[in-house]
Amino acid sequence: MSRPILPGATIGILGSGQLGRMLAQAARGMGYRVATLSPGTDTPTGQIADHEVVADYDDLDAIASFARDVDVVTFEFENVASAATDVAARHAPVRPRGEVLHVTQNRLREKRVLAAAGLPTAPFEAVDEFRGLEAAVARIGTPCILKTAGFGYDGKGQVRIDAGTELEWAWQAMAGGPAVLEGFVDFEAELSVVAARGLDGELVDFGLIENRHADHILDVSIADMPVGEALEDDARQIAATVMEALDVVGVLCVELFLTRDGKLLVNELAPRPHNSGHLTIEGCPSSQFDQQLRAVCGLPLGDTLRKAPVAMANLLGDLWEGGEPDWVAALSDPAVNLHLYGKAAARPGRKMGHLTAFGTDRDDAMRRVMVARSVLKGA
Ligand SMILES: Nc1ncnc2c1ncn2[C@@H]1O[C@H](COP(=O)(O)OP(=O)(O)O)[C@@H](O)[C@H]1O
Ligand SMILES: [Mg+2]
Repeated sequence: MSRPILPGATIGILGSGQLGRMLAQAARGMGYRVATLSPGTDTPTGQIADHEVVADYDDLDAIASFARDVDVVTFEFENVASAATDVAARHAPVRPRGEVLHVTQNRLREKRVLAAAGLPTAPFEAVDEFRGLEAAVARIGTPCILKTAGFGYDGKGQVRIDAGTELEWAWQAMAGGPAVLEGFVDFEAELSVVAARGLDGELVDFGLIENRHADHILDVSIADMPVGEALEDDARQIAATVMEALDVVGVLCVELFLTRDGKLLVNELAPRPHNSGHLTIEGCPSSQFDQQLRAVCGLPLGDTLRKAPVAMANLLGDLWEGGEPDWVAALSDPAVNLHLYGKAAARPGRKMGHLTAFGTDRDDAMRRVMVARSVLKGA
């Protein structure tokens, strides 16, 4: 068992977005130093970090020297190639290990691991070339969803196929790469479980979170989905099975569908803190970022007990269209907290920040966070 990485040591983060920023905030809070590597400058993570290294993720020399200068390497950007994580691992522990990224950055590999672990997913088939698409659609049935195997996020790289859909058009959206065809799930709700696993195998999770999307981007998350203890236990068991099957050290989010007949299906995995877990920052004694820090440093994990009903709403760049949002108005409810990620350009659809709100119950928390977001746009 390796010794814990103690405060004063340097956490190396591959990637520099808001997830790295909030990890860096947690790390600095506990007295660690932080270095980040990405192709950008003045990044959300770089603004908080001690060192901001500018390099491409495939610049193996830069990755090697970055890893030499830090005590542990973790990441917030999951599309780092195995070549890069292998190089980093020669100089510092990489947590979670590169294999976890390798599996989760490809939908097909991920679904195969899930299936091998006996976990339920929507029916799926690999489609490597256009020729195979028609037969796959016939087997899966319509409606179904065609997704690129790699590099998809926020609904990018996916198309829905219905009975009349032109298959050639659908295939074009895959940009020539391999794809996965999935049965369409007529879900009751989308849920997630954010879990953390320590170096010694200790497991914690934050329970079920309900997620509502708008235009394929997460819009609102609410803690504690009231689905009953049995289903919640199932969801937590699914997360535990994934963590152990992949031997994850760190945080991982399991995105789930709750079907109309009350079953859970795994949608996808994110091997890092997740947008749906942002409500743990105020909502829990130890947030998803605290847990990631503790896990990758080999420390005992923290308390995930939720303090009060809490909800989170994303702030997308669209909110800036009419000028600077009215922060004063949103914060006039003392139950509301504001997080901004330090991004200069507010493009439509870009995640610029989020709000959280506590409430007397989940509906009240949800209502308060929605009101706070709506008043941002002014009268
Ligand atoms: N098989 C499916 N059936 C129904 N809706 C789906 C399915 N797959 C994805 N979706 C919808 O699209 C969203 C984004 O898909 P997801 O696979 O999670 O990709 P991303 O990597 O873009 O988050 C999901 O949160 C869900 O709302
Ligand atoms: Mg998703």
